[in-house]
Amino acid sequence: MPTHTVIDPAILYFGTPVALLSTVDRDGETNTAPMSSVFWLGQTALLGMGARSLTAQNLLDTGECVINLPTAELVDAVDRIALTTGHMPVPPGKALVGYRYEPDKINRAGLHSRPGDTVRAERIDECPVNLEARIVHSRPLEKDDPADGDTFIFEARITRVHVHESIRVKGSKNRIDPNLWRPLIMNFQRFYGLGDELHPSRLAQTDEEWYR
Ligand SMILES: Cc1cc2nc3c(=O)[nH]c(=O)nc-3n(C[C@H](O)[C@H](O)[C@H](O)COP(=O)(O)O)c2cc1C
Repeated sequence: MPTHTVIDPAILYFGTPVALLSTVDRDGETNTAPMSSVFWLGQTALLGMGARSLTAQNLLDTGECVINLPTAELVDAVDRIALTTGHMPVPPGKALVGYRYEPDKINRAGLHSRPGDTVRAERIDECPVNLEARIVHSRPLEKDDPADGDTFIFEARITRVHVHESIRVKGSKNRIDPNLWRPLIMNFQRFYGLGDELHPSRLAQTDEEWYR
């Protein structure tokens, strides 16, 4: 039996999908940031964003966003806008580790976009999944967390889902084929893809419509 060792890791980034999160400010100016603190409950996404990001500020101000999900193939575009911020001036802590100001990250990443149908934030054409959403609740992390006040949790209600035909189950209206959807994963600050399907899944015997 392997033994465990008690450690105190500075980060707990055990592997989550990367999103390019587009937001909009009060003047209608858009901003996009790579992020990966995201998961879904029903038709709601839970997003974690640092309070000093322009993204968090925009979400608090206007509550509109698009969660764009890149494939593993788009890793180079995502990495091109790592260590950038739309926040001017660059917060001192970020400047210290090499962040720079970048007002047009979508263009800088070599990507293309258009406004959402239900929100003004930008949908990215190259990302096979665009989830338009509105913030319905937000709060800072509890005070007993060492990152208190530094990180916000946003509850984002999905208002429209756009997908590339290439990831849809052929002949179905609403299903995504997990063999065709290849997310980009951030695992302890590094990029990975998914391997092949490992094992038959008992959970997958449940019709997806049951969850609706
Ligand atoms: C792959 C990747 C994942 C990231 N995940 C997050 C995240 O989940 N939450 C967060 O606050 N910042 C995350 N960041 C850092 C933000 O992109 C960074 O704070 C950025 O400056 C925010 O941009 P903004 O100030 O224009 O909103 C991530 C960066 C990369 C490259």
